[in-house]
Amino acid sequence: MAKKTVFSCEACGHETFKWMGKCPKCGGWDTIKEFRIEKEELSQQEKPIFVSEEDLPEERIILGINEMDRVLGGGITCGSSILLGGDPGIGKTTLCFEIASKMVELGFDALYVSGEESLRQLSSRKKRLHLKGSFPILATNHVEDILRAVSDKHYKFAVIDSIQSTYNSRLPMLPGSVSQIKDVSTRLIMEMKRSETAHVFIGHVTKEGAIAGPKILEHMVDTVLYFEGDKTLPYRMLRAIKNRYGPIDEVGIFQMRTEGLVSVENPSEFFVADRGDISSGSTLFPYVTGSRPIVLEVQAITPKTTFSMPKRLSLGYDINRLFILIAVLEKVLEKPFFDRDIYINVTGGMKVADPAIDLAVAGSILSSYNDMNIGKDTALFGEIGLTGEIRKVINMEARLKECERLGIKRVLCPRGAERIPGVETIPLKTIRDLHKQLVEKNDA
Ligand SMILES: Nc1ncnc2c1ncn2[C@@H]1O[C@H](COP(=O)(O)OP(=O)(O)OP(=O)(O)O)[C@@H](O)[C@H]1O
Ligand SMILES: [Mg+2]
Repeated sequence: MAKKTVFSCEACGHETFKWMGKCPKCGGWDTIKEFRIEKEELSQQEKPIFVSEEDLPEERIILGINEMDRVLGGGITCGSSILLGGDPGIGKTTLCFEIASKMVELGFDALYVSGEESLRQLSSRKKRLHLKGSFPILATNHVEDILRAVSDKHYKFAVIDSIQSTYNSRLPMLPGSVSQIKDVSTRLIMEMKRSETAHVFIGHVTKEGAIAGPKILEHMVDTVLYFEGDKTLPYRMLRAIKNRYGPIDEVGIFQMRTEGLVSVENPSEFFVADRGDISSGSTLFPYVTGSRPIVLEVQAITPKTTFSMPKRLSLGYDINRLFILIAVLEKVLEKPFFDRDIYINVTGGMKVADPAIDLAVAGSILSSYNDMNIGKDTALFGEIGLTGEIRKVINMEARLKECERLGIKRVLCPRGAERIPGVETIPLKTIRDLHKQLVEKNDA
């Protein structure tokens, strides 16, 4: 064993060569402490080997929680490390309880480590969720206890709730500090990769929404998932930010009920269910995320303003794209928007980065501006260029098919879209065509 002396900040984990009164990184006073670390000698026994799919096939377990399987890229990969982040109270513990229970139902051993809730709290949660599979719970904050538990018995799956509350008592830093998280996660990942235990680290997020702790944590794990959604609404979205075993554009949609999280199988119906009798400023947009199309509602209001600086606000649509879109509408259609506030909302809390939403946003603005109803059976998609041209987008066929499935009769879209029986496609070349279709025809 080699011993080394290190000076490190208790608060932020910053390392220095000598003792200092003030940490140069976080500015904390008297936070730099000296401590000794013991490094184990590196093993010299590993040799390079050739690997092939026949010798070491990829093993996946399909959980049967459809939305989770989808986001993971077709089930959980054996031995993989997953980091699950999300706002407080969004449902991270609930989701992991359900996964652990499913693993037990499928005949695998699962372990739940909780450093945040007592056994009594966890048992009442288990009762409320009516979980079929029963798994052992380890209530501890010590990384050594966890390492002992996973080396004593082989678990196929383990949850660490949460990585910030787990600490190494030999380090002087507080739990949740950068050095503690680095140390704890490195040791847990090494041990669980060795024993091929698939594991989920639950991670707290900062005020800005990033996972608290070092960025290196996100590099070390195989998959980073974010659980997000408006807590006042009953549904939650699970998104992959990084995935070594699958695509990252898939979104899993869950509904939060008393009995736990339930996968939403038909999100389009779910997102447009509350639409009711529509008025001006509302359009439908077939969004494609990952392999799945979802029809969303885009709303706009354009009230008159007496201020010299009109307001532009957008929820779910990129604000810079909105500025550009308004400029294009003003230039090409010669419509003045300087005396109008413009507010855009993509309902359901979806954040859409797909440029195909441009046409639906433009349609909503024109509909609100002219105070006319576009109709319940019309959807729009297409990217708008700076000269007002409507450009082709990907997955046009999938978007049209989803519209047809929802009973949408008319779709305004870029030219070149395939015809789908049951849906009338109206190809548009520029936003002048959009104006003609929506406003001039309505006036006539
Ligand atoms: N009895 C209940 N009925 C319905 N929903 C409940 C009930 N109890 C809890 N919930 C829901 O579960 C959510 C809490 O879920 P959970 O504890 O899994 O969140 P979390 O992300 O683990 O939170 P934390 O960051 O605090 O650990 C609450 O926001 C609430 O919506
Ligand atoms: Mg929790």
